[in-house]
Amino acid sequence: MIIERMYAHVASQEDEEWPWNVPCVRGLLADGLRFTAPVTFLVGENGSGKSTLIEALAEGFGLDSWGGSHDWRYASHRPKSVLGERMRFDAAPRGRRMLGSWSARKGFFLRAETALDALDREGFAPDFVSHGEGFLAAFRGKFLEPGLYVMDEPEAALSFASCLELLGHIDQLTKAGGQVICATHSPLLTALPGADIIEVGEHGMRRVAWDELTLVDHWRRYLADPQSYLRHILD
Ligand SMILES: Nc1ncnc2c1ncn2[C@@H]1O[C@H](COP(=O)(O)OP(=O)(O)OP(=O)(O)O)[C@@H](O)[C@H]1O
Ligand SMILES: [Mg+2]
Repeated sequence: MIIERMYAHVASQEDEEWPWNVPCVRGLLADGLRFTAPVTFLVGENGSGKSTLIEALAEGFGLDSWGGSHDWRYASHRPKSVLGERMRFDAAPRGRRMLGSWSARKGFFLRAETALDALDREGFAPDFVSHGEGFLAAFRGKFLEPGLYVMDEPEAALSFASCLELLGHIDQLTKAGGQVICATHSPLLTALPGADIIEVGEHGMRRVAWDELTLVDHWRRYLADPQSYLRHILD
């Protein structure tokens, strides 16, 4: 593991404005967020604040806010978010050297909105490969060194089999001393044994067991009987 806790201090905050009005950001300012396992998943409804947290985490760690690996940390001119600028970290024992110097920081950020563009920049997503193939090439080519790997909904591009492959890469990475923090809506990814799952929502942030996740419950019911949902939606 690289980081044990992330936190931010703000002298005076405009409560009504993004990002300070997002409940999980309020939770972060109040208590910080502790990482207790090498893999942490953030789950929650659309708009609950997962990307806000994930992007600020990646930016604060020194990964490029457009996405990509540490080699490209200064590549885009997208300004850091106000939260990213204030993000601070407590190092885990194996992360002290990395947090001690910017040049020692290793990792990768898969940003949802700009992932393909960022991967193209590193040669993983030329026009002739598909969306998911580009992601897989990046996992195979970049998920090698211990570092901080931050992902925002990687499953958006991935088939069932490719999601399983991603779990294999994550497992290898963490065995080599890396750390993964990933926002997701996927019941498949969150089932990784030993992962910490944090549910983000109106309440702020709370740790939840996979079995107790709302998204897992919905998927179970839907797969068992799609009509139980569809009859409320379709005429
Ligand atoms: N740059 C921004 N400026 C203003 N508001 C923003 C900005 N980015 C996000 N928001 C707002 O902050 C809230 C949290 O958004 P965020 O993108 O973090 O949600 P999310 O949990 O990642 O959702 P999703 O599952 O749809 O990706 C939303 O209400 C969103 O409209
Ligand atoms: Mg998001």
